[in-house]
Amino acid sequence: MEITGKTKIMFVLADPIDHVRASAVMNAYFGSIGDDLAVSPIHVLPGDLGHVIASLRLMRNVFGFGVTIPHKTRVIEHLDEITPAARLIGAVNFVKRTAEGCLVGDNLDARGFIASLAQHEVAVRNRKVLQVGAGGAGRATAFGLAEAGARELIITNRDDGKAHALAAAVAAHYPATKVSAGRAEARSFDLIVNTTSLGMKPDDPLPVDIEGVGAGATVSDIIVNPAVTRLLARAAAQGAKVIGGNPMLDAQMALVARFIAR
Ligand code: ATR
Repeated sequence: MEITGKTKIMFVLADPIDHVRASAVMNAYFGSIGDDLAVSPIHVLPGDLGHVIASLRLMRNVFGFGVTIPHKTRVIEHLDEITPAARLIGAVNFVKRTAEGCLVGDNLDARGFIASLAQHEVAVRNRKVLQVGAGGAGRATAFGLAEAGARELIITNRDDGKAHALAAAVAAHYPATKVSAGRAEARSFDLIVNTTSLGMKPDDPLPVDIEGVGAGATVSDIIVNPAVTRLLARAAAQGAKVIGGNPMLDAQMALVARFIAR
C-alpha cells in the first residue's frame, strides 16, 4: 500500500492496543474496493482521549476513526453529534470527521451483528433469542435483535441489575419484542448469543449451559479472538449452526465506508 498526500487517513483508538484487529480488516476492505484509505491503530490512554480527539479534529486528511475498548462510551463527550442508534446504545464505535471538522459518532455494532447473521442465513424475525451479557457490546446486540424483529429476547447476565436495566430499555423502545431478564434453559431458544468476555481465555468457563442445543438452533459468539471459542466448538459438536465474532466486524466495513463518505 502506498500512502500519499491524497490518501484518506483513519485511526483506531484503543488501550490496550495489541488485540486490535479492526485496522487490518479496514485496510483489507478499503484496498479490496480500490479506495485510497489507510488505517492505523493508535494507543490512547483514557486520560489522553480528549487531547487526541481535539488534535484529530484539526487534521484535515483524517476522515474518521474507530474507537474500541475502553473508549466507546467516554468518546461521546468529545464529539459534536451522535446518531440516534449510538444514543440508544450509549456507545460509539466509529466517528466521522466532516470536511468542516465536525465529529459525528455512530455505533455500527448492532447493524454489523444483524448483517452477519443475515449473511449466514440466520433469521431473527419472530425467533426466540437468549442473550448472555449486558455490557457495552451486549447493549448493541440487544437493540439490534429487537430492531430485527425478534419475537422474544431473554437477557442473562452475571450482574442481574444490568440485565434488567437493558431489558427495560429495549422493551421501552421495541414493544413488539417480548423482552425480559433472568435465567433460562438454552435448549428452548432458536438463537443463543454470547456477548460476555467469557471464552477469550482458554480456561474460561462456558458463558452459558448449552445442553440439549443442537440442529435447528444457532449459537453466536461475538468474541473475535479466538475465532472459534469453546462455546462454539461445543455447539458445533452438538449439531448447532455457529457464528463467531469476525463476521460481525467484517459486516461493518461496508457500513463504515458509507458512513465516512463525504
Ligand atoms: P464489552 O464492551 O466488551 O461488552 P463490558 O461492558 O465490560 O465489555 O461487558 C462485559 C460483559 O461480560 C458483561 O456482561 C460482564 O458481566 P457483568 O455485567 O456482570 O460484569 C460479562 N463478564 C465479564 N467477565 C465475566 C465473568 N467472569 N463471568 C460472567 N460474566 C462476565
